[in-house]
Amino acid sequence: MSDPLGGGTRTEVRRVGDHVVRAHHRPPSPYAHPTLELLGARGWGGAPRLVAAGPPEELTFLAGAVPPRGPVPAWARTSDALRALGRLVRELHDLTAGTELVGDAETMCHNDLSPANTVYRPTTLLPYAFVDWDLAAPGTRVADLGHAAWQWLDLGPRADVTAARRGLRSLLDGYGSDLGAREVVAAAARWQRETASGIEDGAATDPTLAALNAAGVPADCRAAAGWTDAHLAELSAPDVLR
Ligand SMILES: Nc1ncnc2c1ncn2[C@@H]1O[C@H](COP(=O)(O)OP(=O)(O)O)[C@@H](O)[C@H]1O
Ligand SMILES: [Mg+2]
Repeated sequence: MSDPLGGGTRTEVRRVGDHVVRAHHRPPSPYAHPTLELLGARGWGGAPRLVAAGPPEELTFLAGAVPPRGPVPAWARTSDALRALGRLVRELHDLTAGTELVGDAETMCHNDLSPANTVYRPTTLLPYAFVDWDLAAPGTRVADLGHAAWQWLDLGPRADVTAARRGLRSLLDGYGSDLGAREVVAAAARWQRETASGIEDGAATDPTLAALNAAGVPADCRAAAGWTDAHLAELSAPDVLR
């Protein structure tokens, strides 16, 4: 028996027993499978195991709760959940930094950290794993954190700036380093702009991107980037100024 798991943008994802089978519309990054193999060899529980490279790709199924696409549920934005998220991202970056796979880069980035790619324990509602490693590539710690900040805190005109600042603080507390909030917020704005251009550039050849383009997503992303730039100082203000 197999159950569809709501894939669609880049993949068709089905659960088959203890595994998931992912059929790609676009090939995964050349780093995706080596990263899963490396993390598996390290015994990390924060990613599925690669069972078969495919195509189609087969992975272990990670049981738990994955927030649906759309507005981030409040339970995934608590300070505890954001701290645990920061810890999980830190584990990924520390496990891959300095390995042959990342070459001269700082670390391996997931590059698509978002609630819909994160599995939470139903008992604690804390995150314990990331799925959808298709965009993994060497990069910087700040880049992954900027993407996560955008996605979990919904940086943009809909956000409450005080709640977003507190959320960012929890995320970075969990990550546990002196990485500057300012750099992370600037990285979030870069992702927002790159996503807008990426959708526009790909719309001519990719039906999914064409649909996003027609729905006005690039304009929304640019509006979000403008908001993020305008609130950079407030979002990254140190605790003492709260
Ligand atoms: N290994 C896995 N274990 C459990 N659930 C998974 C796994 N891989 C994917 N999923 C579920 O399937 C959904 C879609 O898969 P994903 O790999 O993110 O594809 P896409 O983003 O291209 O739609 C995820 O949001 C998640 O709910
Ligand atoms: Mg996904």
